[in-house]
Amino acid sequence: MKPSHHIKSTPRFLILGAMDEEIQELIALLQLEKQEQWCGFTLYWGTLDSVEVIVCKSGIGKVFASLITQHMIDCCELRGVLFTGVAGAVAPDLKPGDIVVGTRIIHHDFDVAGLGFEPGHIPFTDYRYFESDPGLVEAALNAKAGLALVRAGCVGTGDQFVTDKSILPDLGLDCVDMEGAAVAQVCTVNRIPFLIIRIISDSADGSANVDFSTNLPKYAHRSVGILQSTVQHTKL
Ligand code: ADE
Repeated sequence: MKPSHHIKSTPRFLILGAMDEEIQELIALLQLEKQEQWCGFTLYWGTLDSVEVIVCKSGIGKVFASLITQHMIDCCELRGVLFTGVAGAVAPDLKPGDIVVGTRIIHHDFDVAGLGFEPGHIPFTDYRYFESDPGLVEAALNAKAGLALVRAGCVGTGDQFVTDKSILPDLGLDCVDMEGAAVAQVCTVNRIPFLIIRIISDSADGSANVDFSTNLPKYAHRSVGILQSTVQHTKL
């Protein structure tokens, strides 16, 4: 039997994060309507300051992120998709706790150089850098963020936890994650507005594993206020 979320409902925002620490505070703030399971994913339906949303943990990596994004696009009427979570800093000005509102997102590990394609270019398509929805970016940048530094930036995605920045191609990256470009690509193909928002946990260097473990519980929820304000104030 198909789950009830197969019935198209009123438009909502889908808010995703890869790990429990990245979504648990949002779930706690939800006025919960219902909770459903699909293929091991838990879908939390509810309202966030009276805005209708679905919150879900995608799990780590591009395949899980693509899978749940496409499924929810197919099953629900979505106003947009927001992905939140931690990232490794590439730009030298970014420190743990800072927030990057991803304006451009690219697969840093997509490499078809052997056929003459630029890094990140998906062959035989126009897809390379994916653009977050400008209205969502504006709403996120206008949100009050307390003490955190918040700035626009370029997010690079790969199915790897980066512990040495020198392996990254020269793409103008500000930070690296493991899901952003997958969500961006799925949303772009489906013409669904999206936003990738990342909190810096480490510097994608030799200390990244220790910094990640220390800073994930400390900072993973830092984007909650921005997400609340973004869904509240966007014109979508
Ligand atoms: N997420 C948080 N830190 C990361 C890193 N160093 N590489 C990839 N994804 C990350």
